[in-house]
Amino acid sequence: MNPKALLFVANWKMNMPFTAARQFIHTHLSALELLAQKTTAQFIICPSFIALSDLCIQTGTTSVKIGAQDCSAYASGAHTGEIDAQSIAESGCTHTLIGHSERRYSLNESNEIIGTKITRLRENNIIPIVCIGETYTEYTNNTTLNTLQQQLEPIFSHSKHIAKLIIAYEPVWAIGTGTIPDIEYLNKIFSWIERTTTKTLSTTQLIFLYGGSVSEANAASLMRIQHINGFLIGNASLDFQKFQNIVLSSHDTVSTIK
Ligand code: PGA
Repeated sequence: MNPKALLFVANWKMNMPFTAARQFIHTHLSALELLAQKTTAQFIICPSFIALSDLCIQTGTTSVKIGAQDCSAYASGAHTGEIDAQSIAESGCTHTLIGHSERRYSLNESNEIIGTKITRLRENNIIPIVCIGETYTEYTNNTTLNTLQQQLEPIFSHSKHIAKLIIAYEPVWAIGTGTIPDIEYLNKIFSWIERTTTKTLSTTQLIFLYGGSVSEANAASLMRIQHINGFLIGNASLDFQKFQNIVLSSHDTVSTIK
């Protein structure tokens, strides 16, 4: 993956049933590839577990990569319903989302569990996309950096070197709400994340993404955030036109300012 290229990760959550997921890739794969060529953008599509294998087969050796939305903290064993990182790798996935706020807060996933999942992914050569972000209460109480520090800690404590890592900062209060923080705030947060991460961890490829209500309307201005290389996109990634418009307007911004 070209570290200078913009990266767009589509988090389909549980919004794209198996047949629709297959159909989406079947219909739009060539257009995604053309878009990638035109903009040098890179795409990672994260469907449900059930669709991973099928989408990996469909995308094959194209530039479009497939990622899982989570993995088990266990390598194997008696853990009914869990999905191991080895199976995710064997299905052809290159990336996996870890620590999404919908899992942290609805399923009580701790920072420690997320750290263990990162280890499972690294054992299987899968690139982790680690999601971090503060709640609205933490934001208004001015404790965002404490929260982010705690969420980054398990990444740091597991290893001092991670070859490839993607960190997606998604304020929880911006996810699916249409509300986004102002650019000044985001610049401050990303500068802090960048400083804190690079001071503690050595990497060969480190990518920062912004996520939370990214849309056709705000992508151009959000792309001005310092240090970011792309977006983690939920809702707007379910509609190919919207997704494409986000990529094109981000590309235009980057061509003029970065
Ligand atoms: P959203 O979701 O773009 O719908 O806000 C982003 C995410 O949860 O990753």
